[in-house]
Amino acid sequence: MSVLTRRHLLRRAALSASAGPVAGLSTSTAAATVTGGTLAGCDAGPEADDERRTAPDAQLGLRFPDGFGWGAATSAYQIEGAAKDDGRGESVWDTFSHTPGRTRGGDTGDVAADHYHRYVEDLDLMKELGLRTYRFSISWPRIQADGTGAPNQRGLDFYRRLVDGLHDRGIVPMATLFHWDLPQSLQNTGGWESRDVPYRFADYAEAVFEALGDAVPVWLTINEPKTVVQNGYLHGHHAPGLRDPDAAYLVAHHLQLAHGLAVRALRATGSGSRIGPALNLHPCYPADDAPGVAEATRLYDGYENRLYLDSIFKGAYPADVLADLGPDSRMVRGIRDGDLKIISSPIDLLAVQYYTPIYVTADSGMARKWPTSEADWQQIFPDGMYDTLTRVTRDYGDVPLTVTENGLPTPDRLDGNGTVDDVGRIAFLRDHLAAAHRAISDGVPLESYHVWSLMDNFEWNEGYEQRWGLIYVDFPTQRRVPKRSAHWYRRVIADNTV
Ligand code: FCB
Repeated sequence: MSVLTRRHLLRRAALSASAGPVAGLSTSTAAATVTGGTLAGCDAGPEADDERRTAPDAQLGLRFPDGFGWGAATSAYQIEGAAKDDGRGESVWDTFSHTPGRTRGGDTGDVAADHYHRYVEDLDLMKELGLRTYRFSISWPRIQADGTGAPNQRGLDFYRRLVDGLHDRGIVPMATLFHWDLPQSLQNTGGWESRDVPYRFADYAEAVFEALGDAVPVWLTINEPKTVVQNGYLHGHHAPGLRDPDAAYLVAHHLQLAHGLAVRALRATGSGSRIGPALNLHPCYPADDAPGVAEATRLYDGYENRLYLDSIFKGAYPADVLADLGPDSRMVRGIRDGDLKIISSPIDLLAVQYYTPIYVTADSGMARKWPTSEADWQQIFPDGMYDTLTRVTRDYGDVPLTVTENGLPTPDRLDGNGTVDDVGRIAFLRDHLAAAHRAISDGVPLESYHVWSLMDNFEWNEGYEQRWGLIYVDFPTQRRVPKRSAHWYRRVIADNTV
């Protein structure tokens, strides 16, 4: 591995370890601050601008294409709880969250939002919202407790009930096969560093395809491989909690391989359902015009975006990233003949998750240009959504796109009247949807959009502190309360207009 990469990785680790939003800026102020910039390209006048700042739930009059898929997203470990029910095995996240010092306050997903037991109530809330599509994930250790062997019927039955419940309510299911909860038994034999695990994943995927079949019209393979690579293997603040750059990129390759094998497994069943990857893309911009910034930004883009996009769409990893990793890296040595052909198996759609831009400095560090949310890594910059969507279409062709995650944590409180006034979330979603609308107007084939998240949940190492939901969850009682943003989103969906 090159010196540049080592330095770059260490800097990233340092940045991600720094805590706390920009002092003095509440999230709603942050969102309002950015609004002027975001909407600069639109033809509304200054009065409309004022109104937007004071009344975030006022409509902008941006109508979406008929049939646009309005949705919300969750993932299994973050909401289900029921960690030991019906034969579920342990995942790396059970191990990680139960290891002292790994999560905020020692929080775990043991109970989470208890969705496994309360899914009917949650389905009814989705229907009240008017959702057209719901993205959830399937817990691998519910289907195969040890990550191999015959599927656990009770685990499959839960997802069958969920999927049937969605259809009964006119909501289209979108299922992610892997949202980070690798069976711990597979971790014990090497986890994603092992070349065997992508093949175990394909077996698990096949079992799920056979059981749920065409009842799930859209499948997503791996959620954010980059986050597993960076948070799980570089910074160590996600499971399995390692800090090993050389292992990290071998893991990247194996996650990509797992994606391709799952695509092939679906095709082999003869299913008419669609399938694609779920990638978190970060637009990378130079922080300034100092010498070397352009090169550093290009390489950053390679690690953040092209590593995943190029391998899937072009059947090749980006040469600059491979050169930076070096021929002796475990990743480069781990690529076998035929792997890229598997990884680039044709997909039906690309799921994009957008949260933040990255501003790169000449020494491969990151700079802050915009206010952050309560998640210190998230700079609020709606134009980044536009840039990401248009870039994908420009560089990789007109594959159908869905946004499968976009949202922010806000300091939500249930007030005495039983309401949650999350005006900052409304401003954020409105501005990002305006950017998505602009991308559609410019020819991007975006077919649906999912807010992260349907409900407050276990936010990984941050535990339950950050609230990302449209629906407030009072964790001690498990009471659900739709926030002001949920009421706003219901109206957006009903009017097909932001
Ligand atoms: C994404 C994850 C999702 C959630 C959001 C905030 O990276 O896919 O599970 O944690 O961030």
